[in-house]
Amino acid sequence: MTGNQPHPTTTDAGIPVESDEHSLTVGPDGPILLQDHYLIEQMAQFNRERVPERQPHAKGSGAFGRFEVTGDVSGLTKAAVFQPGAKTDLVARFSTVAGERGSPDTWRDPRGFALKFYTTEGVYDMVGNNTPVFFVKDPMKFQHFIRSQKRRADNNLRDHDMQWDFWTLSPESAHQVTWLMGDRGIPRTWRHMNGYSSHTYLWVNAAGERHWVKYHFKTDQGVEFFTQHEGDQMAAADTDYHTRDLFEAIERGDHPSWTLHVQVMPFDDAKDYRFNPFDLTKVWPHSDYPLAEVGRMTLDRNPTDHHAEIEQAAFEPNNLVPGIGPSPDRMLLGRLFAYADAHRHRIGANYRQLPVNASTSPVHSYSKDGAMRFAKVSDPVYAPNSKGGPRADTERYGAPASWHADGEIVRTAYVDHAEDDDWGQAGTMVRDVLDDDARARLVDNIVGHLLNGVSEPVLGRAFDYWRNVDKDLGDRVESGVRAKADEKDPKADEQGNPARSAMQRKA
Ligand code: NDP
Ligand code: HEM
Repeated sequence: MTGNQPHPTTTDAGIPVESDEHSLTVGPDGPILLQDHYLIEQMAQFNRERVPERQPHAKGSGAFGRFEVTGDVSGLTKAAVFQPGAKTDLVARFSTVAGERGSPDTWRDPRGFALKFYTTEGVYDMVGNNTPVFFVKDPMKFQHFIRSQKRRADNNLRDHDMQWDFWTLSPESAHQVTWLMGDRGIPRTWRHMNGYSSHTYLWVNAAGERHWVKYHFKTDQGVEFFTQHEGDQMAAADTDYHTRDLFEAIERGDHPSWTLHVQVMPFDDAKDYRFNPFDLTKVWPHSDYPLAEVGRMTLDRNPTDHHAEIEQAAFEPNNLVPGIGPSPDRMLLGRLFAYADAHRHRIGANYRQLPVNASTSPVHSYSKDGAMRFAKVSDPVYAPNSKGGPRADTERYGAPASWHADGEIVRTAYVDHAEDDDWGQAGTMVRDVLDDDARARLVDNIVGHLLNGVSEPVLGRAFDYWRNVDKDLGDRVESGVRAKADEKDPKADEQGNPARSAMQRKA
């Protein structure tokens, strides 16, 4: 810019263009010429603006900020990001799971809570959700679960019958579905929700001692939610409400923050703890493993180019840094493959070169070539070599964060611990955590969801599912559905698919 004059427009090659508005033609009424390479650049670039959306978690947004350590967990992990006094830049992305890129922010769904820390020992990603548990516990079922939440093959519609069919045939989902149907299933904003690692991770300290940990990022804004009605209203009024709320809060200097706490389990407790500590459908009760403060995350900078900085952000649970390792949680182990594979498809082989994904600590890898590579490599291009190329520091980094494993190669469920079952912790939440009003909203939300197209025999299985969580809850759900179905649709019993037809007739 010179003075108040804007820069002259150029092509992507930096060549000044002749006009922002007019194509090159043979006379004012004549044909357009192929030699108008600027017009062609406009059309061709436009046709290539989209990358495939994320398979799950397509709708979301994010911001930049920093993590500051306030506690002292140096006796538990040697990870640079968690050492006393450390301050680490990061990017966060929040998302819904099942909806497509244009879908409403306030649909009932878990929310993604993905963080990328630019640490002094490489990029560390903590790719969690706003819930401490998940619907399934084996990666074999994840793809099926997500398909059941998305769209049918025939009419391309989302379908509650399909969702409840999967859930009621997968009783391990009960804890997460209870959570989803409760108040936390629609956060008021992303600023008003917690984030959890959900998985258990392994922390290793400088002496090589190991502990199991779970992360809890508690919102400093307080947990707030929308009722189903408020969520529905907002979905119609402002599809992008959560995206807008985060952007505007940061823009006006109201920087949201979260305090990170960890639950810490001594390594040897895992073997005979009353719940399998690696089962993603279970929490560790706070009374067994209390929260210890680690630090605070603050978001204070908006992206200036959503596509470059958020859409192309590639979070991957396999980005674990020295001092942090995986646990035997099968879901986590499955995820260690899935994400980088998705990024290579969605963005391209060299996605880690993009500024939002690139390490801010030095990279000395042997990766080379591939589409769109611009980071230069130098010889030697192989290891081992005697030519001065990078060499692994096995003395310092050689011991992987790991645990002992042996046994026959099998396909089985986890071995149950003393109190493992699919319903217990969900029942505890319903009876001991929720108050009467929250329980009433839970019943209403489940009834409303079931009345939206769930047919027999899935409906009957759903009543049993909730009775297994809590007898009284199941009875209230069944009587709520039967009463409303009769009220709306006198032919409900014959048709077995009560409310949808009634609602459609009404419409
Ligand atoms: P606590 O009473 O110590 O903890 C209950 C926790 O439930 C709270 O700390 C809060 O977690 C969370 N909570 C509060 N209201 C709701 C709600 N409407 N929907 C979902 N979660 C809510 O008991 P326990 O640790 O023994 O856990 C009891 C049950 O609470 C568990 O079976 C589980 O269902 C649920 N829970 C437990 C968590 C844990 O890590 N122990 C975490 C979240 C839920 P927060 O402070 O994280 O918001
Ligand atoms: C996104 C796979 C379980 C949280 C994704 C993506 C894939 C995927 C392929 C899209 C990645 C992309 O294109 O950028 C899986 C598989 C799972 C699993 C195979 C189980 C085996 C989970 C669990 C959590 C989770 C348990 C939370 C604890 C997320 C989040 C995103 C995501 C937050 C969005 C990240 C972002 O903002 O870019 N998942 N997932 N996933 N997943 Fe999972």
